Parts: sequence; C-alpha cells; structure tokens
Amino acid sequence: MNDLAGRHFVLGLSGGIACYKAAELCRALIKEGATVQVVMTEAAEHFITAVTMQALSNRPVYGSQWDSREPNNMPHINLSREADAILIAPCSADFMAKLLHGRADELLSLMCLARPIDKVPLLLAPAMNREMWAHPATQRNMMQLAADGAHILGVGSGFQACGETGDGRMLEPPELLEDIIAFFQPKLLAGKRVLVTAGPTFEAIDPVRGITNRSSGKMGFAIARAAREAGADVTLVAGPVSLPTPRGITRIDVRSAEDMLRATMPQAQSADVFVATAAVADWRPASASDHKIKKDGSGKPPELTFTENPDILATVAQSARAKSAALFCVGFAAESHDLAANAQAKRVRKGVPLLVGNIGPATFGADDNALLLVDDKGMREIPRASKLQLARELVADIAQRL
Ligand code: CTP
Repeated sequence: MNDLAGRHFVLGLSGGIACYKAAELCRALIKEGATVQVVMTEAAEHFITAVTMQALSNRPVYGSQWDSREPNNMPHINLSREADAILIAPCSADFMAKLLHGRADELLSLMCLARPIDKVPLLLAPAMNREMWAHPATQRNMMQLAADGAHILGVGSGFQACGETGDGRMLEPPELLEDIIAFFQPKLLAGKRVLVTAGPTFEAIDPVRGITNRSSGKMGFAIARAAREAGADVTLVAGPVSLPTPRGITRIDVRSAEDMLRATMPQAQSADVFVATAAVADWRPASASDHKIKKDGSGKPPELTFTENPDILATVAQSARAKSAALFCVGFAAESHDLAANAQAKRVRKGVPLLVGNIGPATFGADDNALLLVDDKGMREIPRASKLQLARELVADIAQRL
C-alpha cells in the first residue's frame, strides 16, 4: 500500500529516549510513500544523531532557526509551508508545555507556532515517564493543545526505559503509522456506531475436534479498520482467527455461531450499521461429546448428526431496530459460482438492503479480492484491489446510503 503517497511531513523530534523509535517511524512513513523532513531540538540530538535521521529521510536535518542554508534564513516559515502535516514524535512533556504557551525560542517550536493552522495539522505523539504523563499539568496541557487544534495520537502502556511500568510510552511506529493514515481518511462515518462480524466459526465435535472453514477474517478486519478510519465507533465480533486487532476498535472474540449470535445481538441494539462478513458455519454437531471420541476398533467411523445454526444476519435484519431503518444491515455472500444471481437471491432471502458478493475460494486467506455490490436497483462491481482498499470503498458506499 502507498497510503501516504504524495504527502510531505515535517517529523519533529523533541528530547526523550523514544527518539530511537523515531528512526523506524521515519522509515515507515517513507515506505508508505511520504517524504519526510526531519527537524530536531538540541535535546533530541542527545538521544539520536542527525546523521541517522538524515540517512533515513534522505534530506539534511534542520536544528536551528539560524540555519543559513535557507536563502531567506527562515526555515520556520519555509519548512512549515511545504508540509501536509507536522508530526512531533516523540513529543516530550516539556515540548507540550512550550507548544501550549506558544513559545518560539528554537526552530521546532517556532515552526509549530508559525504553521498555517488551518492548512497544516499538528500531530503529537507524547512520550514520557508515567508520573510525568499522569501529572495534572501534562493532562491539562494535552486537553488545551487538543482544544487549540492539535491532534493527540495517544500513548502506549507498559515497561518504560526508567524501569517503571505504566502509561506514557510513545506508541510503536506501526501503531503511529496506522493512526496517521487514519487521520487523513475522510470522516464519512463520524458519530456512527458500526458493528462487524468476521472470520469463521468453530463448531465443536468433542473437546479436541471441530468443524470450521477457511475464512481468514481479513475482509472483516479491513472493514472494521476502514470504518474506524472513517470516524466510526467500531465493535468487531471475531471468530477464531490470528489477526492483530485494528487500532482504536473494540474486539470481542467468540468461537461458535451461537457465541457469535450472543455477542452480536446486544451490540446491534445501539449500532447504526451492521456488516456481517463472518463465514458462520451453517450446521453444528447436534451434541458435542464431553470426551474425546475414541476409535472403538471396529473400523466404523462415529455417526455425527447436525443441527442448523442460527442465522445471525437474518436475525439482526429482523430486529425492530433494523425494521425501523435505524440500523443499516449489510450481508456478504461467499459463492463458488453464479455470483450475481446467487447474491441477489441471498439479499432478498436475508432481508437486507445491501449484499456484497465475492467468490469464496478465490478470496479466502488472500490479501486482495473483488466485490459485487447488490441492492434493489441492481449491482456494481468494485474491481480487484487490496482488502483494505475495497473496505474503504465499501465504507464510502455505505456512508452514502445512510
Ligand atoms: N450469515 C450469518 N449467520 C449464518 C449464516 C450466514 O450471519 N448462520 C451471514 C454471513 O455473515 C453473510 C451472509 O449471512 O453475511 C451470507 O452468508 P453465506 O454463508 O454466504 O450464506 P448462507 O446463508 O450460509 O447461504 P448458503 O450457504 O446456502 O450459500
């Protein structure tokens, strides 16, 4: 993906041990297609050298407002005018306090103050000891900086370089990258609650065996991420998959179809959009054995009988909230053939306004896919692309229908 293609960042480093993570962040931004101009405070240069940051960004680093390389000798103006965003990572407690007061006694704070506030967003990745982070002064500063228009990227929690454990670590570079990419996505679902089911279900035969399917959960996880990028409050009900949780969403892990229904129904009561991507097993063993089923030596396989699982999508689509149009339901259909006809028939059968068809065997586990959107007026194809790209297009389509 090149989610930051064409974007230019000023990456500002203030003093803190998290400067070592700024090197990786710089590289991650560039890998995602961005260009990066590094600006460092004098304190930052105690933690990491300008040489490292120059080599990674492929540009000379700026550190002084008296830098004579600029013909007009105004790096604070020139650098901030060409940026799509200024990202301070790490942003120390001291640097937050400086920003708050509009201090401008060295290049980085001077540049932040001089930035065109409506055109160049300021993103802050705080990094400090847990006591410093929890201090009322820091919390007050953070709230005021947000009120002044800065975007606070939050902090991580865990082991700190000082030996203490708690909140205040700088987020890891991949986490920052995900949040920065999200920041630039249009907020088409701001204020909406989105509920997504994803992955396969696992239906137990006995304590060690069960029936499942090849769904990887990737499409559903991508939709959850895209909805969060679009500003929604997202809950993801996930069957057994080994995928990392997208940033900023609530994940509920479940195993069987019945578990998934139990987790989904209460969430659906307050959701505005429900997207059912889960490949729910249609059948489960009528009674799971409490003990591992053993071979009895006769060579005869055990006889399994099955019960139909609840249809989660159809159940949600029949709820009062969906009937009153307060909840917009979207189904998925994994088909092996006759996609258009099967998807349209399934949409009507499930009672949903929008159904998204795809060819199951061609997509399970893959990172890309192609989608067919089917509604009461007809159908539209979203051509093959990465699942995240498809998810963003689907989210935009859903947002238009609300
Ligand atoms: N679905 C569900 N609960 C089920 C079965 C399916 O919520 N017990 C949802 C899926 O999440 C998907 C849609 O219904 O959004 C269609 O799933 P699919 O497996 O394609 O359809 P089925 O109803 O199982 O139809 P069939 O197996 O006959 O194609």
